[in-house]
Amino acid sequence: MASFRTTGVALVTGAASGIGRGAANALAEAGARAIVFADIDEAGAAKASDESRKFATNPEYQTRAYALDVTDPKRVDAVIKETYKEFGRIDYLVNSAGIDTLAYAAIPDNDMDDYERVMATNARGMLLCSRAAVKVMEKQEPRTFATKLGATRDLGRGTIINVTSVLSYAAVPGKVAYIASKHAALGITKGTAQDAVGKGIRVNAVCPAWVNTAIHEAERKKFPPVQDFVKAASPLGRPAEPEEVGEGVVYLCSPAASYVNGIGLIIDAGLTLTVHLGI
Ligand SMILES: NC(=O)c1ccc[n+]([C@@H]2O[C@H](COP(=O)([O-])OP(=O)(O)OC[C@H]3O[C@@H](n4cnc5c(N)ncnc54)[C@H](O)[C@@H]3O)[C@@H](O)[C@H]2O)c1
Repeated sequence: MASFRTTGVALVTGAASGIGRGAANALAEAGARAIVFADIDEAGAAKASDESRKFATNPEYQTRAYALDVTDPKRVDAVIKETYKEFGRIDYLVNSAGIDTLAYAAIPDNDMDDYERVMATNARGMLLCSRAAVKVMEKQEPRTFATKLGATRDLGRGTIINVTSVLSYAAVPGKVAYIASKHAALGITKGTAQDAVGKGIRVNAVCPAWVNTAIHEAERKKFPPVQDFVKAASPLGRPAEPEEVGEGVVYLCSPAASYVNGIGLIIDAGLTLTVHLGI
């Protein structure tokens, strides 16, 4: 079997749209046995779940859609339990549920209610889902993988991928709540990676710059110059497509990444490699 195949069971939050949907479809294409699409937008999750059958390559592929608000601990526990009951294990948790700030405002004019809202979803919600998944993953049997050279590689009990951002490393004006939430999300990734590796669970993050999704579309409406800014600042002159981030998620879930733990995989075409002189 190729090391980039992901043949296990996935639970993807924020899967109705954007990067979550792109990651779920990429996992389906890479051989997932089952994918649960979980989102606060239940109808969108159901639509994306149905659509994923087109991409699935595993003949036993099954998919479900669940309503999930990641800020609600009871519902998080219920969705994790239901996924485990239905499919017998959870191999991959992809935390892609996320929101942007309602408005851009520099300190001291930033809105503290907006800060609480963004932190609750992007950071606390991610931690709630990760804790619940670790409780299930740590009890399941480890999986192994037969390498090309005939060896057996330990894949551990499960893996968690957090969708964070290049703003887990960098900052831009007027977005302090979002930046704080994404730095927290990378901190949650590293902390969980430390705590869970002994249980056979790897935890990593993907850290994209602009991605062509509903959040980016809303950003273009809030702040039209962002479109020209992306063209000028991105070394490829365009935002990423959701599947370009989704395929990074597949890599981190797959046997190819069996020794990768606690990283933030920057997916930004080299945007954050250098200073931008604005000339
Ligand atoms: N699009 C970008 O430019 C970009 C760049 C870097 C990082 N990100 C991050 O990627 C992640 C996914 O965003 P996207 O760009 O795909 O946007 P998106 O709006 O297309 O998708 C986000 C999904 O999360 C869901 N969601 C929101 N709040 C939720 C909650 N409380 N519980 C469950 N689901 C919830 C939404 O319904 C939506 O389906 C976010 O964390 C975002 O911050 C996006």
